[in-house]
Amino acid sequence: MANVVIIGAQWGDEGKGKVVDIYTEHAQQVVRYQGGNNAGHTLVVGNETIVLHLIPSGILHPGKRCIIGNGVVLDPKIFLGEIEGLKKRGYMQDDSQLVVDSNLHVIMPWHKAIDLAREKHADRKIGTTGRGIGPTYEDKVGRRGIRMSDLVKPQVFRRKLKEILPEKNFLLENFFGEAPLDEEQIFAEYSSYAQQIEKYIGCCSRSLNKAIEEGANLLFEGAQGTLLDIDHGTYPYVTSSSTCIGGVCTGSGVAARHINGVIGITKAYCTRVGEGPFPSELHDEMGENLRKAGSEFGATTGRPRRCGWFDAVALREAVRLNGMTGLAITKLDVLSELDSIKICTAYSYKGELIEDFPRDADILQECTPVYEEFPGWGSDICEAKSMADLPDAAKAYLAKLEELVNCPAVLISVGPRRDQTIQVSNPFA
Ligand code: GDP
Ligand code: IMO
Ligand code: MG
Repeated sequence: MANVVIIGAQWGDEGKGKVVDIYTEHAQQVVRYQGGNNAGHTLVVGNETIVLHLIPSGILHPGKRCIIGNGVVLDPKIFLGEIEGLKKRGYMQDDSQLVVDSNLHVIMPWHKAIDLAREKHADRKIGTTGRGIGPTYEDKVGRRGIRMSDLVKPQVFRRKLKEILPEKNFLLENFFGEAPLDEEQIFAEYSSYAQQIEKYIGCCSRSLNKAIEEGANLLFEGAQGTLLDIDHGTYPYVTSSSTCIGGVCTGSGVAARHINGVIGITKAYCTRVGEGPFPSELHDEMGENLRKAGSEFGATTGRPRRCGWFDAVALREAVRLNGMTGLAITKLDVLSELDSIKICTAYSYKGELIEDFPRDADILQECTPVYEEFPGWGSDICEAKSMADLPDAAKAYLAKLEELVNCPAVLISVGPRRDQTIQVSNPFA
């Protein structure tokens, strides 16, 4: 029995969806434990591309239970739309495949309105996805949130609306100069969502712990990435949840002693969407080449992703913070055309060499990368099925990454499809 966590080791979009889809084969239950529909996890199956924002990436496998844990924030309309889209494509034919925790917090219209208004008026923008994620977590911590269990009880929902909405409308109207929201309209719309969602509501912690007792394997699907963590990321240019390992226990109700493996997903280079420091970012033609070769456009907002070389300083930080036991290195194929490839091995800060990731975003902003250069392999690797199929220069590049961050690769991805995957070792074994 093994319970394995998948965590983004960079700034998100590392290919978590693809890896979770592949690892679902080994697990009985797949769990999202933090974040919301700021996530966009892409699955490519045959000619079909499916982007999931809320539902765990194991959902394409019939019989595998998918759970949205208490730590997630859920937009009911997006959630129901996602189910509808999956059912239309022939997936999720059995409703009992999906469980939504009753304690999770609901993203309400004011959360989205405030998120957008803050970004519009801010001098220093975060570049959020505008999905209401930050304001929903603010209200959760501020003890004025609406949980799924509140939404399904009309009297409780009505009382909470009456308590909360006047304050939100005051802020929207008088501070941001935006239109106020209508209580009756929200009550009617969200009550209707509640009725449709009720059949999925359950308890994440009980479902998972029962499965553990029965000897099942669990797969935890992180959203965003380590450097977007509210505590450990490049604050304030972060998301509002615990994207690192700690989020697993609080967001699912599973104890730390049940976690056996922590797999960090990283691209063979680096990207970031939104604002914030990114020392190895490429502002030249090379950055543009990576964006094109890797189709680096956001799966949620469609924004072009900022691209740069692999940053070993940042990845070492992610390995340490999460206690990563293995790495899944994705998008190696994107580098195939290049004559030479760089890896950022250290930073230079005010003329001094530093090898530890700065904890202060203002310092990180001033860091410039120190690179080591490696030869490219100049051949297509999209059909490689084993390490032996990779050119020597590609193997040497991977070995260098593993050495620099002191973590072994367990999976190499050479294309978006399921079959474009080299499984070096099985983290569930
Ligand atoms: P996630 O948020 O971590 O799940 O990642 P996204 O889905 O936002 O972004 C990853 C993108 O890269 C998706 O479009 C995937 O289909 C694609 N992808 C994943 N692995 C590979 C790979 O090894 N090679 C290439 N070329 N694309 C990949
Ligand atoms: P997945 O799971 C990449 C970024 C946003 C912004 C910051 C805060 O697909 O890897 P938020 O809306 O969360 O308040 O925005 O976080 N961000 C992501 N970047 N991948 C994601 O998810 C992200 N989710 C949020 O771009 O910089
Ligand atoms: Mg994504």
